[in-house]
Amino acid sequence: MLAQVNNISLAFNDLGTGLPLVFLHAFPLNRTMWVDQETALSTQFRVITIDLRGHGESDAPLWRYSLDQAADDVCGLLDHLSIKQAVFVGLSMGGYILFAFYRKYAERVKGMVLADTRAQADTEDGKRARFEMAQVAYKQGPSAIADIMIPKLLSPATIQTRPELVQRVRTMIEGNQVSGIAGDLMAMAERPDSLPLLQQITCPTQIIVGELDGPTPPSDARLMADRIHNARLAVIPGAGHLSNLEQPELFNEAIRSFGSNLTR
Ligand code: MLT
Repeated sequence: MLAQVNNISLAFNDLGTGLPLVFLHAFPLNRTMWVDQETALSTQFRVITIDLRGHGESDAPLWRYSLDQAADDVCGLLDHLSIKQAVFVGLSMGGYILFAFYRKYAERVKGMVLADTRAQADTEDGKRARFEMAQVAYKQGPSAIADIMIPKLLSPATIQTRPELVQRVRTMIEGNQVSGIAGDLMAMAERPDSLPLLQQITCPTQIIVGELDGPTPPSDARLMADRIHNARLAVIPGAGHLSNLEQPELFNEAIRSFGSNLTR
């Protein structure tokens, strides 16, 4: 489905009924990374997955990328769907957007799941690496970004033994436009430190991390769990950064249990 939000067209799926769960994907993927969650969780919840601006079937304008803008787009889609409050699941960049969303629209957040993400801002080296990756995207296109990102996103065992999953991730990355990839990289480089926000989060929070996550390792997840009041932490064995794709059943179970507690 498509909605006109903030002067662009945003693609989304809306499946099932009940407590709305809104899923925000990672960089540089799209809403199809949540297919296993849609299938498993839409029997019990209303599951909404979004192609963030610059991704998948949503528009990828040449400029206007920031995490605040992405948060405004999510809020615009909630308004379009007449949803006052939802549980949000953000994985990696989706988690960064969730921090931006919470800063602006805390009253819309019934609960949040921060998966394979971190609260810290980029280091200076990290910002430089973003700029270099944007140059690669511009000069060599999205397939060169897939070559760089796949070893970061998936665990070595997944890369060796699950070629169909590797291909799925590659197809998602290659389906993006360079404007979206570069826009995300600038947006992530400019994001503020969210460590001071953690103590201000008052909604129920579930943290999930793959035990083999390299880009946002379990130590980052523990830091968030220590600072967010009453947060729960689930470490998913045998999963890397894309824990929802590598171990969907364990990931879904964590969300199901968190969501079920919120509907009681
Ligand atoms: C992601 O998976 O969204 C990215 O790895 C996040 C990042 O590059 O910081």
